[in-house]
Amino acid sequence: MTQHILLIVSGGIAAYKSLELVRVLRRKGIAVRAVLTQSARQFVTPLSLGVLTEDHVYGDMFDLKEEREIGHIQLSRQADLIVIAPATANIIAKMANGIADDLATTLLLATDKPVLAVPAMNVRMWHHLATQRNLKRLHADGIHILEPDSGDMACGEYGKGRLPEPEAIAAEIERLLALPAFDPLTGQPDFAPPPSAHLSGRHILVTAGPTHEPIDPVRYIANRSSGKQGFAIAAAAARAGARVTLVSGPVQLSTPAGVDRVDVQTARDMLAAVEAALPADAAIMVAAVADWRAADAAALKIKKDGSGAPRPLALTENPDILATLGHHARRPTLLVGFAAETNDVTAHAQAKLARKGADWIVANDVSGDVMGGETNAVHIVTAAGIESWDAAPKEAVAAKLIEKVADAFASCSD
Ligand code: C5P
Repeated sequence: MTQHILLIVSGGIAAYKSLELVRVLRRKGIAVRAVLTQSARQFVTPLSLGVLTEDHVYGDMFDLKEEREIGHIQLSRQADLIVIAPATANIIAKMANGIADDLATTLLLATDKPVLAVPAMNVRMWHHLATQRNLKRLHADGIHILEPDSGDMACGEYGKGRLPEPEAIAAEIERLLALPAFDPLTGQPDFAPPPSAHLSGRHILVTAGPTHEPIDPVRYIANRSSGKQGFAIAAAAARAGARVTLVSGPVQLSTPAGVDRVDVQTARDMLAAVEAALPADAAIMVAAVADWRAADAAALKIKKDGSGAPRPLALTENPDILATLGHHARRPTLLVGFAAETNDVTAHAQAKLARKGADWIVANDVSGDVMGGETNAVHIVTAAGIESWDAAPKEAVAAKLIEKVADAFASCSD
């Protein structure tokens, strides 16, 4: 199936490279429809872009003929991906502030499709605090940004701000097209569970992130968990209609839509929050809970004592939240644990299943960069055997897992 790009060309000296970009994309079999901003017309003509795209080139919001042929809302939704290349500091500032004062910016505000901005500008404009602030905001809004190259610039200066080569932009476009569709509200890939995955009326409890175990008021023991996998699972469960409680350790993630979040720091806090959230139909324990904490955390900052010998750090074991639930009077009907292992992944997971009293263990190999990374390859270990899933974005793993949870409930209520 042909994939479609809506290419917005905004006005900068690099606009001429958009012609080569169209050529590269067309060679890859990707259809391109172009929108030229008013100032981009100073650098590229609608005619040359139209010849290369073999399509009408759009530009004027108030052109009745254009609006009759294809309305701007439709235009913003027909593509699989919207690409702004080059994206000037001006269009980036408008996007960051939701300004819609021409066709290009109106489309960007009306779209429900993923957006890639490829900035190109003078090096000082790139480094300006306002531009950096706007880019940060776009990033937080889920807009993809392909960073400019460094090098000699058309204006005679040297530095960051050059439009990447068309081949590099095309490669990023292909990468984004290969991702699943996006959720317009979260800006995240929309791995909506299939219609069969209904969890309405169910309460799903999820733990996520690391825990921080204090050593003294300024130091703590932690791990590299980002919380991404747990948050994705909570988001997928909410999309499937469940009431979701997400008990999270310290992470830099925003709360998924429709999820009740309880923030905690330590394993003991997490256990208390989990128990307070019961009863739950299913609990999915994704948190990388610290196994140990400082035996006696100091109330005041520990100082060097001048002897040169570090003070020994005595540790004590934390409660095992998963195992506690596994043997709890109010044990959730379905209890799922995670097992992050660097070796003998499935053998360890099988042992954990029994030891923790869980129904499923989702085992993953964290010897690579899973912790903090975007993808995950997991094995689902149950009493019935082992299912191995191919490496996939964490959101896709989450959707598949929630589908499996929904199936489990559907089959036990049949
Ligand atoms: O034993 P291990 O830490 O590998 O077990 C991992 C699983 O157990 C995860 O589901 C994790 O959330 C859970 N766990 C827990 N409390 C702990 C340690 C691990 O709930 N103290």
